[in-house]
Amino acid sequence: MFAQHHSSYLLLLITVLISVGISASPPMIIDGERYKECSHLFECGSVKNITYPFWGEGRNKDCGLPGFELECRHDYPVMEIMSEDCRDLSIDQKSFTMNVVRMDFWGDACPEKFVNITIDQALFHYAPKPPAFYLNLSLFYNCPSPISSNHFTCTGNGIAVGDGYYATTPTWNNQTQSCKGHIVVPILQKSLEKLQNGLEPLSVVLRSGFDLKYKYDVLQHCFQCLLSGGQCGSNSSSNEFVCFRQPRFCPEQPQLRSERPPPLTSSSTEARRKTPGVVAEWLDLWNS
Ligand SMILES: *[C@@H]1O[C@H](CO)[C@@H](O)[C@H](O)[C@H]1NC(C)=O
Ligand SMILES: *[C@@H]1O[C@H](CO)[C@@H](O)[C@H](O)[C@H]1NC(C)=O
Ligand SMILES: *[C@@H]1O[C@H](CO)[C@@H](O)[C@H](O)[C@H]1NC(C)=O
Ligand SMILES: *[C@@H]1O[C@H](CO)[C@@H](O)[C@H](O)[C@H]1NC(C)=O
Ligand SMILES: *[C@@H]1O[C@H](CO)[C@@H](O)[C@H](O)[C@H]1NC(C)=O
Repeated sequence: MFAQHHSSYLLLLITVLISVGISASPPMIIDGERYKECSHLFECGSVKNITYPFWGEGRNKDCGLPGFELECRHDYPVMEIMSEDCRDLSIDQKSFTMNVVRMDFWGDACPEKFVNITIDQALFHYAPKPPAFYLNLSLFYNCPSPISSNHFTCTGNGIAVGDGYYATTPTWNNQTQSCKGHIVVPILQKSLEKLQNGLEPLSVVLRSGFDLKYKYDVLQHCFQCLLSGGQCGSNSSSNEFVCFRQPRFCPEQPQLRSERPPPLTSSSTEARRKTPGVVAEWLDLWNS
């Protein structure tokens, strides 16, 4: 039974490799140490099996790309986005999407400082399509008089105290302008619907975060590398993609440049074993 499953898997693999085309092979570097380091998958709390372009916590910088560093803090991954800490609720490597929430919104809707986060447009974009369509939600704090009925309360002794107000399309007038703080946060459209229907309070909506899709074309580079038994990484000085290979796989001839798929050695089986979820998911993706 295993053999049967295995052979159909190989057939699929060959089909995939042929359809992918092996022409645009990534540069390969024989480096056993890096290979080993990059084989190590990031794991933190419920977020598991995370691979390139993410790095951190045992995955060296050159196992990923700048801007994708993850830190594991009390069982949840944290990523810095434009100098603000964001908590990664989930990472879907199949759709290259992560769901993130600003750390300062983890407790309530009242941040410790008024700051907008802007994403690095070179790396990410807000998940643009339904059902993950997003909207900008404006939050107003420390307003001398009520500006709308959409209010929430800020307690404690942070900078935001008293009533706060939210609006998707704020009207600019003397009242809104007199508020001491105004920030804009992206939220998912479905979250807004829950907020407007009274199904979820603002704090819960903010805590469900927003989706960011990373622009990096992981499939083009990394998938081929994994299938050929390598581990994805980058040159930390040039940031170019590199495929780390183990010394014992040192190919005499540039196998990956040939028109034919690379031989399905034990190394690719090993790669699949080591990055099980991702490769299988990417295989599905290629095949769909
Ligand atoms: C991580 O990979 C292991 C091994 O294949 C798998 O059993 C597990 O379900 C995966 N976990 C997640 C969260 O994807
Ligand atoms: C956040 O962005 C909004 C809209 O661009 C702007 O009106 C507001 O002043 C910004 N807030 C801060 C703290 O920069
Ligand atoms: C949200 O605000 C940002 C920054 O002001 C803007 O670039 C973007 O187009 C807005 N998105 C939507 C869906 O309104
Ligand atoms: C808004 O403020 C300006 C300047 O303080 C004032 O001249 C104007 O009358 C105000 N408008 C309203 C509607 O209160
Ligand atoms: C990394 O990139 C630099 C600059 O392009 C280059 O000189 C160096 O040889 C590269 N290193 C590796 C290991 O490929």
